[in-house]
Amino acid sequence: MIQIHPAGRLKLAVLASGRGSNFDAIYTATQDGRLNADIKVLVSDKAESLALQKARQRKIPAYYLDPSAYSSRSAYETELVSLLRQHQVEVVALAGYMRLVGKVMLEEFRHCIVNIHPALLPAFPGLNAQRQALEYGVKFSGCTVHLVDEGMDTGPIIMQRVVPVYDYDDEDSLSTRILEQEHQVYWQSLQLMAEGKLYLDGRRVIVRT
Ligand code: GAR
Repeated sequence: MIQIHPAGRLKLAVLASGRGSNFDAIYTATQDGRLNADIKVLVSDKAESLALQKARQRKIPAYYLDPSAYSSRSAYETELVSLLRQHQVEVVALAGYMRLVGKVMLEEFRHCIVNIHPALLPAFPGLNAQRQALEYGVKFSGCTVHLVDEGMDTGPIIMQRVVPVYDYDDEDSLSTRILEQEHQVYWQSLQLMAEGKLYLDGRRVIVRT
């Protein structure tokens, strides 16, 4: 059994592609003391992402890294790793980051890349998870915080939250209900890491108190 992170303040990077509401939730938790972490840097693969603007307003170092400017995923990630290391990052939180993570990042931040996904994995991985859940007709969905591995949304699960799916739901209403839970469960998972309570046993994440 290996400890995922020793007890201590997390040196966090947030990677985001979009509006950044999970970034907001994590940031607020660091500001009011619920989450023992510093967000050292935010990186986005989208120049126009709201998350970038929010980071700049908060005086958090923020970078746009254009994937199309690199010849391969590895070349892109080599640059990303160098940027994260310049900012002393130890843990990477993907918050609506819509790219697969490759082996350069995985080798550098082994067991220290965390993602949030808007479904109860292993159901509905990939894009449009809420739409997939509605189309399938499940009665419950939710969100999952997990460690990132080489697969698409396949890594060891840290926490999940369940929400009901109602007959009148559309993608927006279900997404909103799930998002409320995302905003709680992400900082709580990261705080368990900061408290040194998370251990990996095979692909099971165990919380030791
Ligand atoms: C969130 O619902 C997150 O779970 C999802 O993107 C949204 C980002 O919202 N991530 C994925 O689907 C990853 N597969 P945000 O930018 O407001 O945090």
